[in-house]
Amino acid sequence: MRNVTLEQIFVHPITQKYLKRSGIAHAIAVAEFAYIFAKRYDVNPDYAAKAALLHDIGHYTWYRNGEWDYELYKENDIHAIKGASRAHKLLIRIGEDRQTAKEIAVAILLHTDSYLPEGKLNLKPLQEVVALADEADEEAGGNHHYKSIDDQSALVRIRALDARIDQEFHAYEGQSSL
Ligand SMILES: [Fe+2]
Ligand SMILES: [Fe+2]
Repeated sequence: MRNVTLEQIFVHPITQKYLKRSGIAHAIAVAEFAYIFAKRYDVNPDYAAKAALLHDIGHYTWYRNGEWDYELYKENDIHAIKGASRAHKLLIRIGEDRQTAKEIAVAILLHTDSYLPEGKLNLKPLQEVVALADEADEEAGGNHHYKSIDDQSALVRIRALDARIDQEFHAYEGQSSL
């Protein structure tokens, strides 16, 4: 049994508040990609989908004179750091296992290397899966953050993903290497 479902995370007011900034449609698409890639990498799909759903929860709104300022964002953004911490706090609050919450938070921390010094990171499979899933939904000019989805369709897709993960979760229970 999973401690926490994607639906519980998704409907939480904290998730709704912050994911609206970075785009709920993007978060769901990345969670679906992560589920697919998790199988390819033999990673627990529950961890991958949760990290992917929350990967952009750390975004701040970079507005100057009422418009998004991409330069300001690039210079000052720490959304992966902020997101890792915010996701970890949320997961613990709703009852996630501590070890799982840590693995998910670190995968969020490393989903982008845009704020890190030059050089290749040696990512663990779970971290790689989340980064690849994010890239898979990326559109030119950051357009993936502006795709829209209605609340009902969003919930239907989250529940469908939960159902698929529930069927397979037992196969990954107790898996220590991520
Ligand atoms: Fe991101
Ligand atoms: Fe993203």
